Amino acid sequence: MCGIVGILATEAAAPQVVESLKRLEYRGYDSAGVAALEDGGIARVRAEGKLKNLTQKLQSHALLGHTAIGHTRWATHGKPTEDNAHPHATDRVAIVHNGIIENFRELRLELEKEGVIFSSETDTEVALHLVDRELRKLKDPVKAVAAALPRLKGAFALGFIFSGFEDLMIGARQGAPLAVGYGEGEMYLGSDALALAPFTDTVTYLEEGDWAVLSRNDVIFYDRTNAVVKRTKQKSGAGAYSIDKGNHRHFMAKEIAEQPEVVGRTLAHYLDMGLGEVRLPTPMPFDWKSLDRITITACGTACFSGMIAKYWFERFARLAVDIDVASEFRYREAPLQKNGLAIFISQSGETADTLAGLRYAKEQGQHIVSVVNVPTSTIARESDVVIPTLAGPEIGVASTKAFTCQLTALACLAIAAGRARGVLSETQERRLVTDLIAVPALMVEALKGEHAIEQVAHDMAKATDVLYLGRGTNFPLALEGALKLKEISYIHAEGYAAGELKHGPIALIDESLPVIVLAPHDAIYEKTVSNMQEVAARGGRIILISDHAGLSEAGLKPHAMIEMPKQNPDFAAIVYSVPVQLLAYHAAVALGKDVDQPRNLAKSVTVE
Ligand code: M6R
Repeated sequence: MCGIVGILATEAAAPQVVESLKRLEYRGYDSAGVAALEDGGIARVRAEGKLKNLTQKLQSHALLGHTAIGHTRWATHGKPTEDNAHPHATDRVAIVHNGIIENFRELRLELEKEGVIFSSETDTEVALHLVDRELRKLKDPVKAVAAALPRLKGAFALGFIFSGFEDLMIGARQGAPLAVGYGEGEMYLGSDALALAPFTDTVTYLEEGDWAVLSRNDVIFYDRTNAVVKRTKQKSGAGAYSIDKGNHRHFMAKEIAEQPEVVGRTLAHYLDMGLGEVRLPTPMPFDWKSLDRITITACGTACFSGMIAKYWFERFARLAVDIDVASEFRYREAPLQKNGLAIFISQSGETADTLAGLRYAKEQGQHIVSVVNVPTSTIARESDVVIPTLAGPEIGVASTKAFTCQLTALACLAIAAGRARGVLSETQERRLVTDLIAVPALMVEALKGEHAIEQVAHDMAKATDVLYLGRGTNFPLALEGALKLKEISYIHAEGYAAGELKHGPIALIDESLPVIVLAPHDAIYEKTVSNMQEVAARGGRIILISDHAGLSEAGLKPHAMIEMPKQNPDFAAIVYSVPVQLLAYHAAVALGKDVDQPRNLAKSVTVE
């Protein structure tokens, strides 16, 4: 939820720390801070709000120390004030922290009884004072951290520097990701490899329970029993990705525009385009034919991609799908048949609820397949099979290209299941693959309508509520459309299965309510037309997204029509994602909202 970084540099480290924090800001942006070792002590600069506030402060309070840690925060314990901003520090030690220390209350009481005075409301400060207490006794930072870590419960990653120890930094991982990066006489610590990419692409990912002692020329890894362990160095590949907006005003706009390319890249990974077949790069450790049903679990947008995939698995492979949001799945004690298949979907691969759901499914003897965008993430590492989405880093908090790449990978998986189960013939597979191959070009066509969509969005931005309707795979897309609009424009929106309209939401309809109808010309198009009649009869403002302009035959005139290219409707949800995302984007821009960093949100939700 927060981003942490640490640098043992050969020059002033703070500018590098800030550079790295820019790449971590997607994880949280409530406050930011840097601590550096200066004149044998610890100097800190912290600021409320976004990183730019910290950068401004650093101009007048430059930190010159070569050893520094930094943090960008998504507040969990305590308001996003400067006092609660990390790094936290005593005279001896400074700390940055991502995650949650669950037993912080009892630890705080224990420390307060000993006379410790806390200066923030954060859970982090207990870890700081535990280490400080051990340091006073043991006078040795490594021993102090070794003694303090077992007292902490929860899911977290920590970074420490110590006053008077210029060539020392300690990092610890328990449930939240942490990587060590190797430079030329420099060493780095970061929440992800992307944060370290400006300096190095040689990294080691800490394993669960590991902690690492870094100097400028060496690193020693310990496991949770404090035994020295070997961990492999690897190339992160993160340097290949540019983290800038290019010519776009926002990351979200860039990421929407990139979709034809990244969806094409994902397709190329899973398809033999020449033969018109799905070719999964990794063999599955189970027989598709032996499965009666599968379980899909995810959060937010990733869950909606799973809901769309449910239609594909059921249609193409006659395989029943149970799908649930991870925060429910992890606690509802779902009975799962041994040797079943559980699929987890996550852009970040670090979402706490999804990870907990995965661990539950593992305990229940499931084969674990994860569809993730970050192949080095915890969810990927704990899965039997990883189905990577090749979207590249997604920086905008609102998920766009990761969503359509998830859909692309899941469509391929469902077709592979259909073939393996003997439900799809070779010819049917070829037809579906041909339709999938057409998707990137159709997305290009859909993107050409951006200007018209922008006009519709400007009008829609005046509304206080918006309703999204769809059927089949476009029902979950309606849910996704409503989520996208809510999270970046703060306009209240609801998504409904069009057939559910008359069971309640129809009561909302009046002249002021925009109703976005997602209606490709498919087998159930006429059913959706009936729902539009119901909306029109009550004066609702229909905004139709469709490849069929024949509404006048039904005596209907939508308030606006966003015309989509003609396509086979099986994969329309992937292409129709484009106008859905653009509507939300342009409504938010029209309202002057912070599109890439909407209030109260963070990209990666690593706490429950
Ligand atoms: O990283 P994940 O895909 O696991 O994240 C899941 C959700 O937190 C995420 O999709 C969230 O709903 C996005 N903000 C939606 O745009």
